[in-house]
Amino acid sequence: MNEHSQPAISATGATAPGRAGPKAERLVIEGLRLAFGANEVLKGVDLVIEPGEFFAFLGPSGSGKSTLLRAIAGFGPKPSGRILIGEEEITDEPPWKRNVGMVFQSYALWPHMTVWKNVAFGLEERGMRRSEIAPRVRRALELVGLAEFADRRPSQLSGGQQQRVALARTLVVEPRVLLLDEPLSNLDANLRVQVRRELKQLQRQLGITTIFVTHDQEEANTTSDRMAVLNDGLIQQVGAPVELYDRPANLFVATFLGSANLIEGEVLADGGRRLFSGRGGFRFPVAAAEPEGRAHALFRPQIVHLGGNPAGGDSNEFFTFSGRVVRAEFLGMLVRYGVEVAGIELLVDEPHEPDRPVLPEGAEVTGRILTRQIRILRG
Ligand SMILES: Nc1ncnc2c1ncn2[C@@H]1O[C@H](COP(=O)(O)OP(=O)(O)OP(=O)(O)O)[C@@H](O)[C@H]1O
Ligand SMILES: [Mg+2]
Repeated sequence: MNEHSQPAISATGATAPGRAGPKAERLVIEGLRLAFGANEVLKGVDLVIEPGEFFAFLGPSGSGKSTLLRAIAGFGPKPSGRILIGEEEITDEPPWKRNVGMVFQSYALWPHMTVWKNVAFGLEERGMRRSEIAPRVRRALELVGLAEFADRRPSQLSGGQQQRVALARTLVVEPRVLLLDEPLSNLDANLRVQVRRELKQLQRQLGITTIFVTHDQEEANTTSDRMAVLNDGLIQQVGAPVELYDRPANLFVATFLGSANLIEGEVLADGGRRLFSGRGGFRFPVAAAEPEGRAHALFRPQIVHLGGNPAGGDSNEFFTFSGRVVRAEFLGMLVRYGVEVAGIELLVDEPHEPDRPVLPEGAEVTGRILTRQIRILRG
């Protein structure tokens, strides 16, 4: 809120990677519900985002990502529940009093203004003196690497450069929290990768609490410290990208975060042990702590290995199978096979190496899965 305090944006005041900046704030969301008319779109969201975190909202189209982000910024219908930045409750504050910076997907730069003017505009609107505005605009443009583009108009910039102007324009007002709604979606694939790296680096440097909305799993994985997976107005799981991928809490998260083999079955008691018994003869021991009852076994395509015979190995250690290749897709770094095993088509990813032939359709194969890498999911 205080326009005249020390600037948070300072290339020299950079903090170590992953460290919160000097003014980084915690964002707390409690029991947030929001409806458009009769249509409830957020159904009780609870979330704590730590100071300086780079946090992603990931979920399918229509899951409520933008609605949640906009509610934090103060746009859209009034929600119930609470939103706090630091100790301050902002639930009922109008957007301009929250001092959160939001970059919209469309950038919405002023086409008739120069880059400099676009960035300065928000400060001019706040009635800041020209002598104060100039150094802040210069610093913001330096941060995003556009100092020498100050006199150009948006139409004379590439998509990635325009995106950086939008970012500079948001950063220049020194927001307490930075909200980015699919900021890279207008960029082509190569530029997306480059700009997301730059964005991550800048966020590290500033240490500003940041939320990044995307429906692109790779983007969320590569940028965020932690992420929340949303579906149908509810958070399904929160955690570091690796945790969510390896230990999804439910079937939705498991399948949303990449390819998965899921076998229906049940966990059974077998003496003092527990067994998973599923379709297609998938039967293997599981942790003794697994409760009995209906369940799914989850394993990613890359933990299934074709060929080789684990003869002599502990049969509890591996689940082995024989099957037939029904599909082979050469993807460069790997070959993705469909292998039919007792009526079930397994996805199998095999790393590709030079001179390693791609197995043809119809090939008979054996394979194995390290059973301790298989996860049991309820439902
Ligand atoms: N202004 C509005 N009026 C009525 N319904 C809306 C409005 N904005 C969003 N919705 C509805 O709220 C739900 C969530 O929309 P939201 O824009 O938050 O989804 P999203 O997760 O951001 O999706 P996407 O990935 O497509 O951007 C959708 O069902 C959408 O139709
Ligand atoms: Mg959206």
